[in-house]
Order: sequence, then structure tokens, then C-alpha cells
Amino acid sequence: MEAFGYLVPYGLEWANLLVRWLHIITGIAWIGASFYFVWLDNSIRPPAPGSELAKKGVMGELWAVHGGGFYNPQKYLVAPAELPKELHWFKWEAYSTWLSGFALLTIAYYFNAQAMMVDKAVADLTTWQAVGIGIGFLVAGWIVYDLLCRSPLGRYDLWFGVVIFALLVAAAYALTHLLSGRAAYIHVGAMIGTIMVANVAMLIIPGQRKMVGAMLAGGKPDPVHGIRAKQRSVHNNYFTLPVLFIMISNHYAMTYRHAHAWLVLALIMAAGVFIRHFFNLRHKGRIEWRYPAIGVALLLAVAVAIAPSKPAAVAAQADPAAEFAQVKAIMDQRCAACHSAHPTQPGFATAPAGIVFDTPDQIRQRATQIHQQVVELKAMPIGNLTNMTDAERARIAAWFAAGAK
Ligand code: HEC
Repeated sequence: MEAFGYLVPYGLEWANLLVRWLHIITGIAWIGASFYFVWLDNSIRPPAPGSELAKKGVMGELWAVHGGGFYNPQKYLVAPAELPKELHWFKWEAYSTWLSGFALLTIAYYFNAQAMMVDKAVADLTTWQAVGIGIGFLVAGWIVYDLLCRSPLGRYDLWFGVVIFALLVAAAYALTHLLSGRAAYIHVGAMIGTIMVANVAMLIIPGQRKMVGAMLAGGKPDPVHGIRAKQRSVHNNYFTLPVLFIMISNHYAMTYRHAHAWLVLALIMAAGVFIRHFFNLRHKGRIEWRYPAIGVALLLAVAVAIAPSKPAAVAAQADPAAEFAQVKAIMDQRCAACHSAHPTQPGFATAPAGIVFDTPDQIRQRATQIHQQVVELKAMPIGNLTNMTDAERARIAAWFAAGAK
């Protein structure tokens, strides 16, 4: 086994690829199905009073055409008089999204916590502290949310939403003051995702089980289960757009590396909620443009607020060759451990993002990207694992401003 130890990071890279692939597939299946049911619920129309359907207990139906066939879904108030033999339950879409998501969090973050979760400029944590904080927030998020749902506040949708949003922003604030920006963001997303899946596993599915159980026992199902499940699925519906942004946020260092990254996240999440609200109303036939307008205005405001300032002019050296030699020395010392054809940094099997800085040409070709990551965003070196200094960043800025020769 010893002899194959060097293949461990490579194996993890494959695990990362396969689990990420699975996570996206299950996530699409889950969110896709739930978007469809929200649309269905909001689009069905009541059958004519006294019609056959109304007598059967159908409260709404619609006709749709898709994939070369006609569909006629019907929704029963509480339940049909007689339970069908075969009943499809939507649950594995949600469960497998959480399982693959947690596996991905472990592979991408917990196995490489020093690079991916710890930012010494924020807090100098050990691996176990960082992982403990991450998992602690996932568990605490669900407990607090669930208690609030069961409290009297749970009955007031709008106020409940405001309080949950404020708590999520508080969590984002705390996490960005404990972990690296990207780990803070992904853990806010994982907190929301955990709440959503726990809603399915702990409330929605057990409620449906009790309804079905009551019917099988020959009784009438208690509508309270349906009402509770509905409350949770309304929350899940508003969580979707924020959570999806967070899942892609790791590509955008301009958001999570900002000095007020928690506020940037709060505003983008709010934009997602307003835009989702527009679609929910639209399904019901109400077109309220002010909601997406607020969402777009929030996004624009964030874009303007976090725009990089014009870089201060740093005097470059007169001799471009000497200037580049200094830049090359910095890159060798601070970047090459990871961005090389043969990385030496533990945990990196291949050059991250396929970016290699072994030769002068490879450095010059990526001057704009280097400048953006090192000077504008300070996102690289990741977690400043190689201890790059501000003077070195200024050197790169000067080289770039003089034309990156
Ligand atoms: C400890 C390992 C490590 C070190 C050291 C490191 N990087 Fe990176 N770099 C990464 C990882 C991981 C990614 C991929 C990040 C992602 O997927 O968002 C990356 C991505 C990048 C990207 C692409 C970013 C994008 O989203 O387009 C650039 C450019 C980059 N690094 C430049 C540098 C430079 C310049 C240095 C040295 C000053 C450096 N890196 C040091 C790990 C490292």
C-alpha cells in the first residue's frame, strides 16, 4: 500500500469529480421536481362545481402537453377516497442530494482544510477546529430553524422569513470571521441545504406517512400534517435560488473575498428570494414586476459596490528583464507549489484549475488572471498558504501596470 501513497491525492481528485457530478444530477432531479410541483400547485384550476371531478374530491386540475403526450394531473384535497395501489414518493431526490453534497464537502474541504477552509488572516485555526465549526453550523442551523418553525412565529410566513433571513446573515457574518471566504459561503449554503433536506426527511415525508397510515386504517387523515408539510415546502421554495447561487459562488472570488463578504452574500440571497417570489406569483396569474426589479436592483448595487478601485500606480523598474526576474522569483516561491506540472503541495495531485506557472511564457500569458487573483482579489495563493507578502503583491501590480513584459 505504501508504494501507492502518492496516488491518494489523484484518487481524491476522481472522487471529487464523480461525487460533484452525482451531486449536480441529484440536485437537478430534486430542485427540478420541486419547481414542477410548485408550478403545478399554483397553476391548477378548480373543476366545475357539481362535475364528476368535483364529486371525486378533486380540488384542482390542469392539462399539459409534454414530450409528445397529454397529461392531466389532478390534486385531491387531503386525499382521494380510496388509496391507489401504487404511490410514488418524492424523497430520494432530496436525500441523495444531501448525501452527495456532504460527501463533496468532505472531499473538497474537510480533507484539505488548511488550504480550503483556513485563512490565517481571519483566524489561525487547526484542521479540527475548522471542520468542527463547519459541521457545528450545519447542526445548529437545523435546530434553530426547526424550533422557530414550531414556535408561534412559524405561523406568520412573512415575519418568519425575515427572522430566518436575519439569522442566516448572522451565520454568514460569524462564518466569514472564522473561516476563509469560500468556506464561509459554502457552509451557509450547506446549512440551507441541510434545512431543506431535513424538512423533507423529518416533516414532509413523515407527515405524508401519517396521512397514508390513517387512510389505510380506514380513518380520515388529519389535515394538520398537510398544513405543516406545506409550511416547510414554502420555505424550501424560497431557499432554492439563494442556495443555488452559493453552490456556484466558489467560482467568483470577487464575492467571497470581499472585505464585507457576508453583506455581499446577504444582498445576493435577497435578490434570489425576490426573483423567486415573482415566479411564485406569476404561476398564480399575478405579474408583479416590482419583485424582479428589486432583485435586479440589488444585484446591480452589489456589482457597483464591490467594483475594484483603480490600482494605485506603483513605479516599475526601468529594466523589464529585471522586473520580470523578480516576478518569476515570487511566483516560484509562492505559487509553484500548487501551480506546476508536478505540484509539491500535499493534497494537490495536478495543477489546480489546470493553471501552470513553470515557464516565463506561462506566467506572461496569464498576466491578467494573475493580477486579478493576486492583487485585486487577494484570492491567491489560496488561504495564503505560502505566506505571500503585501510587498510581493505590489511588485506584481507594478509589473502588470508596466505592461507585464
Ligand atoms: C495551496 C495551493 C495554491 C497556491 C500556493 C496557489 N494557488 Fe492558485 N489556485 C489554487 C486552487 C485550488 C485553485 C482553483 C480555485 C477554484 O477552483 O476556484 C487555484 C486557481 C488559480 C487561478 C484561477 C482562478 C480562476 O478562478 O480563474 C489563478 C489565476 C491562480 N490560481 C493563480 C495563482 C497565483 C498567481 C498564485 C501565487 C501567487 C497561486 N495561484 C498560488 C491553489 C493554489
